[in-house]
Amino acid sequence: MKILVVGSGAREHAIVHSLAGEPTNLDIHAAPGNPGMGQEATLHPVDAADPTAVATLAMTLGADLVVVGPEAPLVAGVADAVRTVGIPAFGPSAAAAQLEGSKAFAKDVMAAAGVPTAMAHVCTTVDEVADALDAFGPPYVVKDDGLAAGKGVVVTTDRDEALAHAAVAFEARGAAGRVVVEEYLDGPEVSLFCIADGKTIVPLRAAQDFKRAYDGDQGPNTGGMGAYTPLLWAPGNLTDDVVARIAQPTIDEMARRGTPFVGVLYVGLALTARGPRVVEFNVRFGDPEVQVVLARLRTPLSHVLAAAAAGRLSEIEALTWSNDFIVNVVVAAGGYPGSVRSGDPITGIDAAQALDGVHVLHAGTAVDTSGQLVASGGRVLSVIGQGATLEAAREKAYAGVALIDLPGSEHRTDIALKAARNEIVIPS
Ligand code: AMP
Ligand code: GLY
Repeated sequence: MKILVVGSGAREHAIVHSLAGEPTNLDIHAAPGNPGMGQEATLHPVDAADPTAVATLAMTLGADLVVVGPEAPLVAGVADAVRTVGIPAFGPSAAAAQLEGSKAFAKDVMAAAGVPTAMAHVCTTVDEVADALDAFGPPYVVKDDGLAAGKGVVVTTDRDEALAHAAVAFEARGAAGRVVVEEYLDGPEVSLFCIADGKTIVPLRAAQDFKRAYDGDQGPNTGGMGAYTPLLWAPGNLTDDVVARIAQPTIDEMARRGTPFVGVLYVGLALTARGPRVVEFNVRFGDPEVQVVLARLRTPLSHVLAAAAAGRLSEIEALTWSNDFIVNVVVAAGGYPGSVRSGDPITGIDAAQALDGVHVLHAGTAVDTSGQLVASGGRVLSVIGQGATLEAAREKAYAGVALIDLPGSEHRTDIALKAARNEIVIPS
């Protein structure tokens, strides 16, 4: 089978790495990919967000399946363009990708499907935002309606900061700008990836992400600074409950609207005193969570993705999983999530990967004219540790991080620490 993976982050490297590890040899291609993916796939310098360019590449290659990784190409219609030329695609249509592309659209679908989520007001002026903030009270949750790479949300007890975030969002988007103000959801967060073929759902295993930049959940929101799985502290029926009350009703509502959802419905949850509530939907795998989830998946990933793209998920075998714990620590360039340093040399990846139970996935990396691997983005590497306990997996991941040198780089030192110490509490 010939598979084209679209995107260039650690999420796409995780997908390629999983496919490359399957027992049956696959012919793996990536566009545009990154230097790490280049060791496991053939790279093509094609713009991931250009629907015509991706569809043309898929045709030229004679791809059997195209897997679209990031949200921006999905919202731009890359999966539609690929299907139009008769090639199966894993990823939602542009219309279905609005579940992530617009927070207001997602809220509307959730309301129609009866999905438990935070109460919200969609606002079009700063005055409306001020009224909504006062209606809910602190802590305040203010979200830019459009795509913002995980950085469009502010959670703060400072009313002025909340108003300032809304003002910046309105300014950036002009007259069409919308801001969503939400009720604050209290409780630990969980990410669950639900694979969908338009009708049927196959859930993967839950993971936990660390969204804030600094230790102790301090600092600004980021795309995610680390993750781990499995979540021994979560209720045993969590996955079944989330599929029954959240994912299936959402997939059914999307089908009812004539925009069936094919791909990954990423359900971001808060486990509150009143049960799981949706914090956000995304329409693709989460990064850095997918790096840990796929590291435990034993069923060949290609079977799952191809079945979803073909509408045959009801026919696949039950997924099987390794019993290991997996921890991912993200190494980010200095300054992330603000403006970052680029071009600094990265060394030590081979030494890290020589450790038993450690592998490294690339995100913002590039090779400079002298052939040196350098940083070229905010999140640079995912360092993944695997072990029989969460503590062992943490030790592996951090041993790998210690061997990697990137001047000025940053990482959190407390990924999976609370879980390893049994300190995570669901409010009651
Ligand atoms: P989003 O992009 O909607 O996922 O929001 C980014 C992050 O902001 C989430 O992962 C949460 O940590 C936080 N957040 C978003 N909405 C809420 C909410 N209603 N209550 C509490 N925290 C939230
Ligand atoms: N890890 C959060 C996200 O992928 O949106």
